[in-house]
Amino acid sequence: MIAILDFGSQYNQLIARRVRECRVYCEILPHTISPSELKEKKPRGIILSGGPASIFDEGVPVCDKGLFKLGVPVLGICYGMQLMAHQLGGKVTKSSLREYGKAMLDINAPDSLLFKGLKASQQIWMSHGDHITRIPKGFKISGSTSNCASAAMENPAEKLYGVQFHPEVTHTVHGVTILRNFLFRIAGCKPDWTMGSFIEEEIRKIRAQVGDGRVLCALSGGVDSSVLAVLIHKAIGERLVSIFVDNGLLRQGEVEEVTETFRDRYNLNFRVIHARDRFLNKLKGVTDPERKRKIIGTEFIRVFEEEAKKLGEIKFLAQGTLYPDVIESQSSFGGPSAVIKSHHNVGGLPARLKMKLIEPLRVLFKDEVRELGHELGLPEEIVWRHPFPGPGIAVRILGQVTKANVELVQKADAIVRHEIQKAGWFQDVWQEFAVLLPVKTVGVMGDGRTYENVIAVRAISSRDGMTADWVKLPYEVLESISSRIVNEVKGVNRVVYDISTKPPSTIEWE
Ligand code: XMP
Repeated sequence: MIAILDFGSQYNQLIARRVRECRVYCEILPHTISPSELKEKKPRGIILSGGPASIFDEGVPVCDKGLFKLGVPVLGICYGMQLMAHQLGGKVTKSSLREYGKAMLDINAPDSLLFKGLKASQQIWMSHGDHITRIPKGFKISGSTSNCASAAMENPAEKLYGVQFHPEVTHTVHGVTILRNFLFRIAGCKPDWTMGSFIEEEIRKIRAQVGDGRVLCALSGGVDSSVLAVLIHKAIGERLVSIFVDNGLLRQGEVEEVTETFRDRYNLNFRVIHARDRFLNKLKGVTDPERKRKIIGTEFIRVFEEEAKKLGEIKFLAQGTLYPDVIESQSSFGGPSAVIKSHHNVGGLPARLKMKLIEPLRVLFKDEVRELGHELGLPEEIVWRHPFPGPGIAVRILGQVTKANVELVQKADAIVRHEIQKAGWFQDVWQEFAVLLPVKTVGVMGDGRTYENVIAVRAISSRDGMTADWVKLPYEVLESISSRIVNEVKGVNRVVYDISTKPPSTIEWE
């Protein structure tokens, strides 16, 4: 295990990704962790991340000096290196000028294990203001640039290394080699973190935790909950009870598809709760987006609780929490402060049900969950399924949610997806969907005047849903989407394409 201490760098997760791409398990931990707590985790190496702070600012994040005395190899990156120098008796000098962007690193320690296999001159990527003007005792300078005399330093005897630049970004051309050298040559890690080994280990842990008890799982058919259910099923078979709530606000054909996959193909102990009318009744006359979300969230919990009660006592609840959620909630620097929309997944459930949580995916990133899905043999349609909001189509119908509106949007939505898939754009799109607008416009069909609905089409690209860009679909694809919707979806006479980015817009319209 490699411990990455978080000093607030926007690249923390990237460092973690890179380490895992090297097949080494790592965790991002708060910089406030004490040496004894860290020691318990038995890390092979410690990486101090960069961060926006200047060592001269008040209240800057620092780590316990004792970390450098654990005998565990340390790599300080950017601010992490400056902190290491500062704490070990070196000198950091304030600078008003930032060195930002590409630079050439001259490696002046040919025997450095960190730079093993690299040519003497390397393109790297810098982003710093302050710099080290005196390295601590026992260290030597191992690399410099024209602007920064101590761009890398090391004390091989103590296994302490620092780089002022960012090896984790792709602009540092051989950054991965540097990280690999740290992991394999200095920290003595082995590249044995594979999905196969993860599955074995998790199955062992789930069995140990659950004993002969039962586990309840809210299956939505999305990637995370599907992978979660199949993994737990592998561990405890039919003692996993999966509940799928059909709230009537899902994509076209989704209920059938999910049922077919999990009940028929995977043989899961799988229950579909047909609660469509319940949800639609509760939504009657409601147009306010936040109220819609709250109603759906509350109703979901009610339905789920009722079902759970029928099953008798179940002690465990499985939840598809992923690593970015964990980091966000425990980050030493806090997650995004403003709640823009009240998101609902199974939030609120664990507390209400007083069950113990099983969260085997909580150490994984999204693409690792997909890899795990592959390894578990899940079909491509599920592994590559695009995200879908918990409140479903209700937040894509602006205005009242009625049975007719739901059907209309489902049809238009299926056309959008189908045409994007047919044109080979599905992998380049993060999400695609249709939105029903609460306006009617005039049109002409045949010889008659029409006065009907408008559908907005949204297709966006994104890395994590936090920011998004609209996808520049070819005109031909937009053309076939538009003409099919107008021809095949009764009640629609106009189609528009949403060309807004997030921010300032959000992905969903409500
Ligand atoms: P926004 O609209 O906030 O969406 O830009 C960001 C991502 O989150 C999805 N989304 C939700 N997912 N429950 C969910 O599970 C929700 O209530 C919810 N609302 C939005 C949205 O589809 C996009 O991927």
